[in-house]
Amino acid sequence: MQPGDPVTRIGRADDIERLVARRRLLKGFALGAAAWLVPGAFAEALEERLPLTPRQTEGPFYPDRLPLDRDNDLVIVGDRVTPAVGRIVHLSGRVLTPAGSPVRSALVEIWQVDNNGAYIHSRSFHRSRRDPGFQGYGQFVTNAKGEYRFRTILPVAYPGRTPHIHVAVSHARRHVLTTQLYTAGVAQNARDGIYRSLGAAGQRLVTVDYRVVEGSRIGELDGRKDLIVGIT
Ligand SMILES: [Fe+2]
Repeated sequence: MQPGDPVTRIGRADDIERLVARRRLLKGFALGAAAWLVPGAFAEALEERLPLTPRQTEGPFYPDRLPLDRDNDLVIVGDRVTPAVGRIVHLSGRVLTPAGSPVRSALVEIWQVDNNGAYIHSRSFHRSRRDPGFQGYGQFVTNAKGEYRFRTILPVAYPGRTPHIHVAVSHARRHVLTTQLYTAGVAQNARDGIYRSLGAAGQRLVTVDYRVVEGSRIGELDGRKDLIVGIT
């Protein structure tokens, strides 16, 4: 896939940003004196909802034994000195309702392969080559703004799949979303059955357009993706 292809261009979080901002603006207008002039149009705009993040299969490799270290830094395991091998990425975003409200205290879990294509799972591909410096799984509880944040590595492909990060969100002990996040501009995306099944509109909601962190000497990447969950 070439830069400028649709997935690269629309993989940004900007479209959701814009929708949230527009909704706030319209809400402001609606509360003002002009509201009654064109009630139909305002009512319609107020009903505008953020598109739900598409659900995708959990897959067979959710850790069958969770690591002792389950924090949001997957690059360092416990007090090991040697960090994970791979390109470091900072993955962050917000958990939001379709109305754009932040979801506080949501548990966000991620799991993914290490740089050798191995999961934290006893039946993973390449498990004999697993990188002991990579945590493979992490958790984060969203703050009052609904924000989550992880430091991990850029996922690599494994047999049959394009690179992806698995994500699960729970709220009030209820599972509200299971999905996968993809890397914009990766050629294998176009050949991945699960990714393709989402269609263009769904793909843009789960494709992360990673950018190089300014000033990073090791080329760390920064990626943002808001997760829209079906709770009110
Ligand atoms: Fe997977």
